[in-house]
Amino acid sequence: MLIRLALIGCGRISRRHALAMQDLQKRGRGDFAVTALCDANEQAAIERADMLEELLGIRPALYQTHQELLAEAQVDAVDLCLPHGLHHGIAVDCMEAGLHVLCEKPLGITVKACRLMAETAARTGRLLSTAAPHRRQPGQRVAHWVFNESGLIGKPLSFFHHYRTPSSPPKVGSEAVPEHVRWRQDKLMSGGGPVLDSGFHYCDSLRYFFGDVEKVYAELRSLKTGTALPFTAAPEDTVFVTFSFKSGLVGTWAWSLAAPGEEAYNVTFYGSQGSLRDTTAGSFSIFHLFERKPDQKESARLACDDGTVYTMRQLEEMHRASLSPVEEELLYPGGATDGFSIEIWEFLEILRGNRAAPEIDGWEGMRSLAVGDAIYESGLSGEVIYVDEVLNGARSAFQDPIDAHWGL
Ligand SMILES: NC(=O)c1ccc[n+]([C@@H]2O[C@H](COP(=O)([O-])OP(=O)(O)OC[C@H]3O[C@@H](n4cnc5c(N)ncnc54)[C@H](O)[C@@H]3O)[C@@H](O)[C@H]2O)c1
Repeated sequence: MLIRLALIGCGRISRRHALAMQDLQKRGRGDFAVTALCDANEQAAIERADMLEELLGIRPALYQTHQELLAEAQVDAVDLCLPHGLHHGIAVDCMEAGLHVLCEKPLGITVKACRLMAETAARTGRLLSTAAPHRRQPGQRVAHWVFNESGLIGKPLSFFHHYRTPSSPPKVGSEAVPEHVRWRQDKLMSGGGPVLDSGFHYCDSLRYFFGDVEKVYAELRSLKTGTALPFTAAPEDTVFVTFSFKSGLVGTWAWSLAAPGEEAYNVTFYGSQGSLRDTTAGSFSIFHLFERKPDQKESARLACDDGTVYTMRQLEEMHRASLSPVEEELLYPGGATDGFSIEIWEFLEILRGNRAAPEIDGWEGMRSLAVGDAIYESGLSGEVIYVDEVLNGARSAFQDPIDAHWGL
């Protein structure tokens, strides 16, 4: 069954989606076609159409608004790669028009936006899947296996994550700010700063490893001016969070994109019988746990109490050896290890009836987002915040202006 896809939003991440689609086709998993593209910026749509035609051999039809696309294009599903504030409105319009939706992270801009999307999926019977590639990549699959199945470090107890990555030079004047940065600096369009953007991956990965977070306490600062501005005065570039999980596990996430001085990369998870530690340097490593780039020298290792040490490569081999052929195909379809390829393939397989449900449906996407919003609610109030209170709307002061802006 050929599935016809539309790509809505042809900016930076859509390029990775296009490459992932080519990866799937090269692996003989090409039973889909991108037949329509939509972007408010005509040039962005033309560039992506050129790329997709070259990679996949079909030139999609171009639209500048999603309403035109919904009225004219013959498609089964959409892949949304839009600024965060546009996710819920366009996803709901697509589902109401009968289309299935794969939506880039974070699922919606606030908990209310996510809830609207998940409820619409349930009411219309459409598939809604959250595109979050990191937990689907080998590093995190291995870490999940270490914590939950291998028995190698016993019961997970705690984690200490400390990073300081190089800060990028400040942009001067509005002319110098590219569009993909500009909308990220507008809270009403982004929903928050790094904690909610790439931080969504981090929160989602923690939930993947250890289940739901019960409560958080967070201190957020902006250090780039040379003064420790509080979160109420400037967006965060430096964050200190303590997480308590419903399982009893506790952990800290302390990072800065702006503190002067030495870089630091230290991700350590402790279990009752050992630890799993990653000190691999990388610009996004504060958010992307165990993400090994092909050209990167990896420094992750597992140390058991009895003195045994395993490299991440050895752990990956042990994990792969533990999988049945069916499990192997589910995790790494056709040998794919790119999280974007895997999330797109999962979506297509559900549409074909070969899989039951997405790994991160609308409700799961909402729960991962709620951890990030709990961090903001704590930073704003100075209080410990229970994630369930963010989910049920009892704590929403940070999100209220965003919800009011979007009429949620
Ligand atoms: N999975 C990942 O690792 C990852 C990485 C980066 C970004 N993302 C996510 O991907 C999404 C897009 O981010 P990006 O970096 O590609 O942003 P971007 O700014 O590069 O691209 C967004 C595109 O949407 C278009 N657009 C804006 N309004 C529109 C509208 N009303 N209708 C149609 N098109 C419209 C813009 O013209 C632009 O081309 C975000 O949700 C972001 O968080 C995910």
